[in-house]
Amino acid sequence: MEMTFAMIKPNGVASGLVGRLIERYESARLSICALKMHQMTSADAHGFYAEHVEKPFFPELEEYMTAGPSVMIAVGGENAIAKVRAINGATNPEKAEPGTIRHDFAPSMTENVVHSSDGKESAAREIGFWFKENEIYPHEAACQRAGCIMKK
Ligand code: CMP
Repeated sequence: MEMTFAMIKPNGVASGLVGRLIERYESARLSICALKMHQMTSADAHGFYAEHVEKPFFPELEEYMTAGPSVMIAVGGENAIAKVRAINGATNPEKAEPGTIRHDFAPSMTENVVHSSDGKESAAREIGFWFKENEIYPHEAACQRAGCIMKK
């Protein structure tokens, strides 16, 4: 069981896609383990995207990411990191496979609708960036307590 970080970026939220995008993750037998809506500040953008701060596209990325609220999600399940990356599609929507979120919705490389962690280390860092430990609900524990009504 693995956990990854996914984010529905401001244009995804503004376009009313939150439900449809979360549906794609849950339909792939992934679980929402933590969820919040938050509008990034400039400091958030510098911290979260620390590795990109010096890149030429950062000013545009910062403007985009701070323009409205995003939905931050910790997604859990078997191979969650690879599965969410596959569901999101390539960073550049022109290269994203049909049926991926970015192919279906992203207008440009910068405004690419969703984010997902690219590996175990970044997943741990990114989940920890947005969530405290007591805000994360590992799926098995939640299932045991609340009961899962889905017929497998
Ligand atoms: P994301 O997966 O959130 O990681 C970094 C973000 O920077 C990326 O999605 C895009 O929104 C944005 N970006 C813009 N230009 C580039 C680029 N040339 N390479 C990578 N990311 C870019």
